[in-house]
Amino acid sequence: MMNLTINGKQVTAPDESTILEACKYNGIHVPTLCYQEGIHQFGSCRICVVEVEGMRNLQASCIVPAKEGMVIKTNTKRVLDARKVMFELLISDHNKDCLSCSRNLSCELQALGKELGVETSRFEGERIDNGIDVTPALTRDLSKCILCRRCVTVCNEVQGTGILNAQNRGFDTVISPAMELPIGSVNCAMCGQCTVVCPVGCLKETDATQAVWTALNDSQKRVIVQTAPAVRVGIGEEFGLPYGTRSTGRLAAALRRLGFDDVFDTNWAADLTILEEGTEFLGRVKSALTGGDAVLPMITSCSPGWIKFIEHTFPEELDHLSTCKSPHTMFGAILKSYYAKKINVDPKDIFVVSIMPCVAKKLEIVRPEMQNDGYPNVDAVLTVRELGDMIKTAGIDFVNLPDEEFDGPLGMSTGAADIFGLTGGVMEAALRTVYELVTGRELPFEKLHVTPIVGLDRIKEGTIKIENPLPDYSFLDGVEVKVAVTSGLKGANILMEQIANGTSPYHFIEVMGCPGGCITGGGQPRTKDINKARKERLEQLYAEDESKVLRKSHENPQLLAFYEEWGEPCGHASHEYLHTHYVPRGKYNELTDESFVIEK
Ligand code: SF4
Ligand code: SF4
Ligand code: SF4
Ligand code: FES
Repeated sequence: MMNLTINGKQVTAPDESTILEACKYNGIHVPTLCYQEGIHQFGSCRICVVEVEGMRNLQASCIVPAKEGMVIKTNTKRVLDARKVMFELLISDHNKDCLSCSRNLSCELQALGKELGVETSRFEGERIDNGIDVTPALTRDLSKCILCRRCVTVCNEVQGTGILNAQNRGFDTVISPAMELPIGSVNCAMCGQCTVVCPVGCLKETDATQAVWTALNDSQKRVIVQTAPAVRVGIGEEFGLPYGTRSTGRLAAALRRLGFDDVFDTNWAADLTILEEGTEFLGRVKSALTGGDAVLPMITSCSPGWIKFIEHTFPEELDHLSTCKSPHTMFGAILKSYYAKKINVDPKDIFVVSIMPCVAKKLEIVRPEMQNDGYPNVDAVLTVRELGDMIKTAGIDFVNLPDEEFDGPLGMSTGAADIFGLTGGVMEAALRTVYELVTGRELPFEKLHVTPIVGLDRIKEGTIKIENPLPDYSFLDGVEVKVAVTSGLKGANILMEQIANGTSPYHFIEVMGCPGGCITGGGQPRTKDINKARKERLEQLYAEDESKVLRKSHENPQLLAFYEEWGEPCGHASHEYLHTHYVPRGKYNELTDESFVIEK
């Protein structure tokens, strides 16, 4: 620990702290804007300046290390005046159209202006209009960008994708893909991690709420909603509930009050995915062990940001991907075929809405591969943030809603489906089913959790030895199944390099595009403490799993009843509706004529 003086008071702080961290440690608030806890700081906004005795200039507290004996002042007139000037310069070429801005009342810039007591801007000057860049998933309104570079850090250092960087210099600086290309024309994964950290209304998901309101108000439409596993531990935060609050019953109740005709749970389709993907995996392993040409390792395919990343970055390795569509698009395909027949409604009159913790899923649904019988599997994707906005607009008191159930016959799910929302969950769910199908015995881990792949490490691996399998699976006797799990595109890149150079030791790999998985997907609520939010949401999803009587996908009675009519997993109907193929893309989409640019 080191000794410091802050605002005249003797204090201590851990060694290696920055001045900002030392202040925080002692409960002293210093305003910040570009700063983000836990990741590299650029120190670009200078809002966090403080006075340090013996130093002539004010110091940016978020990047300057505290030192033994330092004397720091955080709120002198000189400091407060400097912060105000910094702020006024920042907003001098900002489009201050707050009333019609998506971040109105949740904008960090607005809140900071209030905190600093800024009422006017003395430096109104020339503005650059860099326009608006719209794709089906991401929208960039560059007139709102304050050049804080949080998105640059996340895109380069967390995801390792390197799409967003500062282009040009001085007044002409703009945060953009290389050559200021529209983001829909480059190899952006559309993961949306940059939208979570942008403090203002520049980077955001492309709005789908208007399309959903229109459908809800169209009496000709049967509007069916489904909600992904991780939504239930995120949505409460939109209404001030603590990180990770389990809101499954309230969520079903809110969706019903918004006017959806059927309120289903994507968890049902997560269980379905396990039967399809597990069957596919066993088929591939059997082929590989008996002289066939099946490709291993097989890699999960439910994360569309990851899919876009591999299509751009490793286009020659697409055969490793499971052919399973993501759970919500499988569900959409079933709703507009099997379920449409059951309820006797023409699929053209069905409008499927997916509530997702994800931005990339907005892009996924416009892919031509995600259509059957001429209809898109899913018509609109709402992020958790957008759903929160719609519930507020409708005046629904979310916090005090009673718990309600999802609708049948496609609303029931097992605990295995809940953990689809966290890193390691898809693999664990698959192993719970595959191991039991192969051996007739339950997976030999306490509470069914495959301990080596639990947690938030970037890459996790485990080995499961198959002993005394059932006669149909004798080819697996003694085989050690090696699995790996990663979340975030940086980890995915590491595992893919191994595959590309022929050194991957694994049979089965789970990849989720966002660090931690869907619990901290690009469409989840923005948070002040992402690490705490990630940890709490993870624990609560595991708790949701453990609260269920049925915890293995192959035990879901509604799913088994469905397969009675549909046919077997990976059978003919499944191949037509539930499986897909992938598109090799180049760095700037040059291998395809597709472009995801709507407006630039
Ligand atoms: S980004 Fe913030 S300050 Fe700028 S217009 Fe939107 S709400 Fe207002
Ligand atoms: S969506 Fe993901 S890959 Fe694309 S710019 Fe944002 S962080 Fe980078
Ligand atoms: S787009 Fe948002 S996060 Fe990126 S530099 Fe601009 S204001 Fe900051
Ligand atoms: S918060 Fe420290 S420089 Fe921006």
